[in-house]
Parts: sequence; structure tokens; C-alpha cells
Amino acid sequence: VFIYILLILMSYLYGSIPFALVIGKLFYHTDVRESGSGNLGGTNAGRVLGKKAGIAVIILDASKCCISVLLSQTIAAHMGLNADIIYPCALACVIGHCYPIFAGFRGGKAVSVAIGYALVTNIYAFIVAIVVFLITLKISKYVSLSSILGSTTILLISPFIGYSHVGILTNACIVALLIYKHKANIQRIKNGTENKITWM
Ligand code: G3P
Repeated sequence: VFIYILLILMSYLYGSIPFALVIGKLFYHTDVRESGSGNLGGTNAGRVLGKKAGIAVIILDASKCCISVLLSQTIAAHMGLNADIIYPCALACVIGHCYPIFAGFRGGKAVSVAIGYALVTNIYAFIVAIVVFLITLKISKYVSLSSILGSTTILLISPFIGYSHVGILTNACIVALLIYKHKANIQRIKNGTENKITWM
């Protein structure tokens, strides 16, 4: 049990690294929490610091779940642990990203970490989510709506693309958290005041 708790705790701590904040402060002397939507995520980093920083944050945030899943998978295989340990680790990583201990528990909205999660747990989930995301973005120009629909699609197709029961439950938790973190965006979409992207 100790090793399970240790892996979950490590995943939470790794998820807690606020890359948007680190990159903003280190390379741009800017706190992204004070501009744009104030969110510690790739979209806001791109909005406030520029495209290059946005892409770097998306990749680094996505790497969080990739690394925690691959690491827990490898350790589980070596130590004969239950393979489903990757799911609580992934969820802990997403929770760390959204509520980071290193940034006053005010983090991102689970989008990039969820992309990384889909990439390493199920390639079909990743491809379908990206396609739904891009189509929605092209039509609506809202990153938030595209993120919500892309991730919800993963949950809807989960039972048909090989996720275990624990995996489906984890997907449900991640999607619920992602939607919850977007509640201000949903309100802005309803009011017609949500930020639209201009480059697509
Ligand atoms: O990256 C999260 C995205 O879905 C919305 O971000 O900054 O527009 O609230 P933001």
C-alpha cells in the first residue's frame, strides 16, 4: 500500500509544477495570473506571453500526465503491482495541475494534462479528442468549448476503445473536473463575452 500512496503523491507533486507561471516569470518576467483569464495554462500563457510560450506550456503540461503514467506503469510492472495504478496516479497529476501546492492551489483547467493523459493511455482517445477539439475550435473559435467537447467525447467513447472500469471512472473524474474548472468560461460563453482565438 505504501508504494501505491507514494506513486500517487509523486504524481500530485509533479502535476503541481506550474509551468505557465515558471516560464512566464523566468523568461518574460510576467505573472500570467495577473493578465488575460488569469489561468495557469497553455491558452493563457499564449495569450499573455505569445505563441512560443503557449506551445511550450502545453507540451510541458501534457508531459506531466505522460511521465506520471509511464513511470507508475514501469514501477508497477517491475514490482508486480496492479496495472490500474496508472489511473489514480493520472488523476492525482490532473488534480495537482488544477490545484497546485506550489502555486497557492490556483492552477490550470486540466486541458493539456488531459491531452497527455489520453496520449499515453489510449491513442484512439487522443486522436478523437484532438479531432473534436480542432473542429469545434474552427467553428466556434472558443478554446474552452473545444476543450470541454473534446474531453467529453473521450468519456463517451471510453467503454468502446478498451478502457478498464477504473479507466472509465478516471475519465469521468477528469472530465468532471475539467468542466468544473471551466465554469467561468461557460458563463462567459452564455453571456457572449468569452475570448475567441483570432489565428484560426
Ligand atoms: O487552457 C484552458 C482553456 O480551455 C481555457 O483557458 O485561459 O481561455 O480560460 P482560458
